[in-house]
Amino acid sequence: DCEPLAIFTPSGKRGRVPAGTTVLDAARALGVDLDSVCGGRGICSKCQCAPLYGAFPKHGVTVAPDALSPVNAVETRYDEKRGLKPGRRLGCQARILGDVVIDVPPESQLHRQVVRKAAEARAVEMDPATRLLLVEVASPDLHAPSGDLERLNAALAAQWGLPPARPSLPVLARLQAALRKGGWQVTVALHRDRDDAAARILDLWPGFFEGPLYGLAIDLGSTTIAAHLTDLATGEVHASAGAMNPQIRFGEDLMSRVSHAMLNPGGAAAMTAAVRVALNDLADGLAVQAGVDPRQIVEATLVCNPVMHHLALGIDPVELGQAPFALASSDALDIAAADLGLVSINPAARAYVLPLIAGHVGADAAAVALSEAPEQSDDLVLIVDVGTNAEIILGNRARVLACSSPTGPAFEGAEISSGQRAAPGAIERVRIDPATGEPRFRVIGCDLWSDAPGFAEATGATGVTGICGSGIIEAVAEMRMAGLLDGSGLIGSAEATGCARIIPEGRTHAYVLHDGRAAGGPLIAVTQGDVRAIQLAKSALYAGARLLMDRIGVDRVDRVVLAGAFGAHVSPLHAMVLGMIPDVPLDKVRSAGNAAGTGARIALCSRAARRLIEGNVRRIEKVETAVEPRFQEHFVAANALPHATDPFPELAR
Ligand code: FES
Repeated sequence: DCEPLAIFTPSGKRGRVPAGTTVLDAARALGVDLDSVCGGRGICSKCQCAPLYGAFPKHGVTVAPDALSPVNAVETRYDEKRGLKPGRRLGCQARILGDVVIDVPPESQLHRQVVRKAAEARAVEMDPATRLLLVEVASPDLHAPSGDLERLNAALAAQWGLPPARPSLPVLARLQAALRKGGWQVTVALHRDRDDAAARILDLWPGFFEGPLYGLAIDLGSTTIAAHLTDLATGEVHASAGAMNPQIRFGEDLMSRVSHAMLNPGGAAAMTAAVRVALNDLADGLAVQAGVDPRQIVEATLVCNPVMHHLALGIDPVELGQAPFALASSDALDIAAADLGLVSINPAARAYVLPLIAGHVGADAAAVALSEAPEQSDDLVLIVDVGTNAEIILGNRARVLACSSPTGPAFEGAEISSGQRAAPGAIERVRIDPATGEPRFRVIGCDLWSDAPGFAEATGATGVTGICGSGIIEAVAEMRMAGLLDGSGLIGSAEATGCARIIPEGRTHAYVLHDGRAAGGPLIAVTQGDVRAIQLAKSALYAGARLLMDRIGVDRVDRVVLAGAFGAHVSPLHAMVLGMIPDVPLDKVRSAGNAAGTGARIALCSRAARRLIEGNVRRIEKVETAVEPRFQEHFVAANALPHATDPFPELAR
């Protein structure tokens, strides 16, 4: 066989191709992942690759210096204008003349991995719905009259093998000028999600437009909103920002917002308007922060709980206020971003809203499932995403169950006497010496423990301002471990505990963590009411997890994943001392960071992931805590620290 052998790394794909085949064509023929935006015109450099020369015993070939055609005029021009890295060739220009080994660097792989594969999390490849494509359109011919759009679509079919796509009217209005300015070349942002027949031209630029295109991954929580500006070609996050959900002024928790909608004419609309202003502000801020033209932001994905979902979409959430908690729709949505009120990005941008799981289990839980892949787990994994509501998922390859539990805002530092949001000045870590009852702590924004020299100066002008969610959890758990609290959650007196930090507080007691009053600061204490609030929140969380364990018929889980910004900060030991999570070996508790946000980003980068989660949510078994009598039983039993009836052998070690 005299045809040259082409071997591609890192894929290892190989095959013989006719001499003279370009590297790009060889890659396509052999199913190698090599990118191209300009369709082989030597303009985009996405096809860059690194030929390797010499002997490769592993592959059984020797690559001669003339195995590829010499650098041609197109490559020289590209190199002069924009510069090629040493050793790189343009795959669309270099022709294969002899046996070759060609390395495809990560930036030239169209389907590079989006999310690093953590221990158990899902690996995802780039497969975004919107791509940039350079198209060379035939100029008009008086003798064969056809419209510019029709010729553009003919070129899309001929050069990219794509079905016809439709532009919006404002984009169509710019087509003719763009084509003529670009010398009959135009770069289109082509959006194809589910259905190739519904392909859309979201925007176009004369000639070659390098991009990049961006998407917004939005995690819309009841308390906070987070958005990540993501490069749609690489999956990289360029900027992230967070904001408070302005709907808080209509009600702290979900049910109070639903009641607001039920009791006030126009209430739902006002909440919709408020959240949309916040979404646009976030998008604006991210574009400025990253120095990106908002027009280049062409997609958004949204994950949120069902009430936030309905309100963001402009759907009255009243049905979610009462059983049977009927959703307007639980399906994923592919809509115009403008319909979601997102008007500060590209006017034709699309938005993908992840599917909801059930009445109280939302797209945020679906996003967590997308990121954490419980359905691929051999062992039984409990995933908890703690916010104002806790999203709880339990499952493995055999089955996956989900519920939502109303933990309330205590875990976020709200409804706590000295509570505050996680911000500089907030106590986030607490240790209490069991012998003396003396505390030491750390605050956000300062690297020192409170007993270190220079702590007061290091906290700067802010000083110590309050205690955040992870701080109150550690404080209550440490108080329990130091014997300042009994199993029922009662704070002992100074006399009974021998701890001088305990002061009377009405008919109960409080534990003083920090007294800044001499310096004009606050007195920060953990009161009996604070302990009760944490007990209620943790009971709700634990009861939800137990309910799912009952359904499967198990007493133990194999591992626990703590998701959410909060999950990233809470210590597994303290969570278990409180009985927030069931007993497992501590090394089986992992923090997944913002898994809902990661799920939103995965959906932004991968159409395949969208199809996957749409299929998986149908198979997730939903458990409705609000109507389960066993929930109440578990809730009461879980009030003790760590628990009245369930054993915690791992804590005894
Ligand atoms: Fe665009 Fe080669 S494919 S430069």
